[in-house]
Amino acid sequence: MLNTNIKSLKGQIRVPGDKSISHRGVMFGAISNGITELTGFLDGADCRSTISCFRAMGIDISQNADHVIISGKGMRGLTKPSTILDVGNSGTTTRLISGILSGQSFTSILNGDESIQKRPMGRIMTPLRMMGANIKSIKDNDCAPLEIGGSSLKGIDYNSPVASAQVKSCILLAGLYADRPTSVTEPVLSRNHTELMLKGFGADISSKGLTASIKPAQELYGQKIQIPGDISSAAYFIAAGLICPNADLLIKDVNTNPTRAGIIKVAQDMGGNIEILNQRIIGGEPVADIHVQSSNLHGCKISGQIIPTLIDEIPVIAVMAACATGQTIIADAAELKVKESDRIASVTENLINMGASVTPTDDGMIIDGGKALHGTNIRTYKDHRIAMSFIIAGLVSDGPNSFDDIACIDISYPTFISTLESIVNK
Ligand code: S3P
Repeated sequence: MLNTNIKSLKGQIRVPGDKSISHRGVMFGAISNGITELTGFLDGADCRSTISCFRAMGIDISQNADHVIISGKGMRGLTKPSTILDVGNSGTTTRLISGILSGQSFTSILNGDESIQKRPMGRIMTPLRMMGANIKSIKDNDCAPLEIGGSSLKGIDYNSPVASAQVKSCILLAGLYADRPTSVTEPVLSRNHTELMLKGFGADISSKGLTASIKPAQELYGQKIQIPGDISSAAYFIAAGLICPNADLLIKDVNTNPTRAGIIKVAQDMGGNIEILNQRIIGGEPVADIHVQSSNLHGCKISGQIIPTLIDEIPVIAVMAACATGQTIIADAAELKVKESDRIASVTENLINMGASVTPTDDGMIIDGGKALHGTNIRTYKDHRIAMSFIIAGLVSDGPNSFDDIACIDISYPTFISTLESIVNK
């Protein structure tokens, strides 16, 4: 395992394609007419779960590494699956597909791994039921397994209590099948890939402030999509470049959509040497190269509207904070408790075991940075982002970390270790 006492971190890398866009490309392609072609697809376990669910509903999908071709069958072309749809570890698959399944004319059952069976689905069941959907938690605990009987849906105007792109997208997708327009208003804006991409597929969808609205659709049309690098994967290398000695990294072709790019602002607020270069638009999404160098970071406060724009990056931001001087306060991030693991608990436990000073709070954590980090036994809770964050922490600890499970990295970044090895000089 890669660890400690690195001399320098240097090089130019690319990270795999964006996970959120990869999932959506498959889903939207499946319910469109004609061919959808994705390049730069994330070949990770989560996105493979989405592919397998749509194959089980009769969609022909060919995958060759990061190149995926979906032969869409139109909005009414899915067929009743003969097996339970296996969503694996993927919350995005579960919640978005539930919106699509609610508008079908067949009954389906969704289930996934131990983690997915603990994640809250009441947040989608409530609005879907308001639309007339026939969705139930089979164990009656508001979690998967879910049974979804197709029904005719009515449009709603929903005020979501959570800033969640998965909830928003689920309702908007159900809205495609409804009898009148549907809107979702969020407390704080979450990632907007569904809004941007569905427009490209021909849906009548618009956004104003915190509200996204969609009109029922008759047809969607297959698209060619070039998927940019995932900023949530780039985050590990942004952090590594900032906290490691003698670091100079260029991360090419990263999606810098403002609803995703909060880590860049935080890196700047912490005094990090970070430059955003070669900014351009590819397929409607902002893309840039990110240059990071070793930095003397200082603590900062991370709360409010920025939280949804960096929610998946908080574990590795917490590692940055442990390496910074002064205090970092992370607040308004109670959503961390319902991710692949309870990330307030899993980040806090592992950072404290490495010697950091961290106090968990109800909606985040307080980190008093600057203490020496020691190698320890990391418990990942099979959460890919915990595993990768603590591999990065291990680069600056004074002894090696060991891990109970790193296979989970395959969920979002199968080539993480080899990319890291390619830039580390010992
Ligand atoms: C995602 C949305 C986020 C994020 C997840 C992917 C998406 O979840 O944590 O990894 O693709 O819509 P929430 O929007 O539910 O917070």
